[in-house]
Amino acid sequence: MKTLIQRKELDLEKVKAMQAALIAWYEKNHRDLPWRKNKNPYFTWISEVMLQQTRVETVIPYFLKFIQRFPDVQALAESDEEEILKAWEGLGYYSRAIYLHRGAKMIMNQYGGKIPERLIELKKIPGIGSYTAGAILSIAYDQPVPAVDGNVMRVFSRIFEIPDDITQMQTRKKMESLGQSVISQENPSHFNQGMMDLGALICTPNSPKCDICPLQCLCSAYKSGKQQKLPVKGKKKAIKEIKMEVGIVQAGDKILLTKRPAEGILANLWALPIKERQTDLQEGQSILSEVEENYGIKIMDCQFLFMKKHVFTHQKWLMNVYQLKSSEQVRVDYPEMDWVTWNEIEQYPCPTAFLKVIKEAQKIL
Ligand code: ADE
Repeated sequence: MKTLIQRKELDLEKVKAMQAALIAWYEKNHRDLPWRKNKNPYFTWISEVMLQQTRVETVIPYFLKFIQRFPDVQALAESDEEEILKAWEGLGYYSRAIYLHRGAKMIMNQYGGKIPERLIELKKIPGIGSYTAGAILSIAYDQPVPAVDGNVMRVFSRIFEIPDDITQMQTRKKMESLGQSVISQENPSHFNQGMMDLGALICTPNSPKCDICPLQCLCSAYKSGKQQKLPVKGKKKAIKEIKMEVGIVQAGDKILLTKRPAEGILANLWALPIKERQTDLQEGQSILSEVEENYGIKIMDCQFLFMKKHVFTHQKWLMNVYQLKSSEQVRVDYPEMDWVTWNEIEQYPCPTAFLKVIKEAQKIL
């Protein structure tokens, strides 16, 4: 059976009216955001990557600091991964920062430091998918390429009354093809950014502000009163809860920090030793064995300190935190490790889950 997107003929007049109304609204009401100050494709790239899964208010200070420290592709390519991760600390989804770094190196090596202007080339760069490529091409290079993310899918699903489940890849593909058909050829930059701002300010997930929407008279969902029922989103997978044990390993005035593996969650970041609790072991024993076996550290005393939770997108960590005392600052080559004072921790890129634990531990130890 054909879906609504395939069945519906696009009404050209509706499309033209939509472009005009959206662009006029954007030009009058757009948000004053730091990455909009000029058409620097590097700034567009960085901001779009930061804005994936992260709110605009959170991104603004990170963006400003990031472009000050890494002002162009060359500066980013020539920096250490660890310094980039440090600048990303607290933003989450750290693989984005690792891909940015790889992408910058590729742009230096293959394109002389200039962000490519062709979609096919742009999509080969690590971390750049259809959405980011569309945003860069339309905003920085004025090309009519759609940039369809969750917000834009919400707006489309309402304007065209599309009942397809937006969590499905097929729907995203259809929405991108719809985006290609409706984007303004004359002003793709303001069209795409208008879509983004409309999704963020007016066509919000709950209680959309239809009474002040510039597209109200064109909106099929508004006409049929279905705006609150759209978009259709399949059920999210339940978040998995994992019981973890975390070690504050102390020897003298130093504690142990360890670099996480290159694969998996929080890859390459610095953290406290952590181990999923093995139910066949006594409480505290999982982290104690991990530290003794993996780092060759002999633990003299193990005390439970407190419990801390941290929620990621797909999992929730319930962390039991233990103080593990040792008499020697033993070193191994792998996993990479360092003995640091509490104050030195801030020099390492360390994810929020662990910073929360460290902050609490520091108060009592
Ligand atoms: N969300 C995603 N990209 C954006 C942009 N360039 N401006 C504002 N919000 C956004």
